[in-house]
Amino acid sequence: MKIIAIANQKGGVGKTTTAVNLAACLAAKGKQILLLDLDPQANATSALGITDTEGKSMYEPLIGQAAAADHILATRFDNLWIIPGDINLAGAEIEVARQEDHLTRLRTAMEPLRNHAPLDFAIMDCPPSLGILMTNALAAADEILVPIQCEYFALEGLSKIDNIIHQIADSGVNPGLTLAGIIMTMFDVRTNLSNQVVAEVRKHFGERVYHTMVPRTVRLGEAPSFGKPILEYEPVGAGAIAYNALAKEFIARHPQG
Ligand SMILES: Nc1ncnc2c1ncn2[C@@H]1O[C@H](COP(=O)(O)OP(=O)(O)O)[C@@H](O)[C@H]1O
Ligand SMILES: [Mg+2]
Repeated sequence: MKIIAIANQKGGVGKTTTAVNLAACLAAKGKQILLLDLDPQANATSALGITDTEGKSMYEPLIGQAAAADHILATRFDNLWIIPGDINLAGAEIEVARQEDHLTRLRTAMEPLRNHAPLDFAIMDCPPSLGILMTNALAAADEILVPIQCEYFALEGLSKIDNIIHQIADSGVNPGLTLAGIIMTMFDVRTNLSNQVVAEVRKHFGERVYHTMVPRTVRLGEAPSFGKPILEYEPVGAGAIAYNALAKEFIARHPQG
């Protein structure tokens, strides 16, 4: 199993939308997927229509009171599993920070899943901060996927996260960590700004930028309030087409996954 962190310290860039819909599209293509909701807001969890998750999140495994495997729930979708988010994760920021191994708690908790579960990918939805949960996700991940909103200050945020990735890699905690992919979200074909931002990000990051771009569509914004991934909410619309294409490109970029 490969562990992928969907991360960006900025909120509202499409992390959760990408985590949920990439996970659902990969599962629909037959990959065995574990979606790991690390955000105390639990938006990825509710976006799949899953509620009443208190006590079932990664919080207990993080503080050493449960095994991660025991917190995996089935979803109503084939091949898609979840460790949901809940508000207790907010407490992990404080409690885990006190521990000596505070950077590697998640890595340790995920280790048994890495080899024994019949999973292809774990997709982690990170909270929008540089706190303990996000740094733990970066320390646990094989690679980072960064969604970037097609807007003016995109590059600034990217260099920040790139620096953090290098720090974590250099610390020896996770030496193999890479910023493997950048996904341009909320692309608006009608604006010059979107096109300029994409061109600039591509100039700096080259092939690491996914060819597939996610357009801004009303339906993608609506789907979570119905507890549905876009594949289910509007299977033939532009959002589903984009996330299906993204899943296909992801699989092509992970030939042994
Ligand atoms: N491609 C898109 N088109 C329209 N709305 C989107 C799109 N992607 C995300 N949204 C909406 O924008 C908001 C922020 O997206 P979200 O995925 O929650 O970002 P993050 O997890 O980075 O905070 C949400 O309300 C979401 O439904
Ligand atoms: Mg989010």
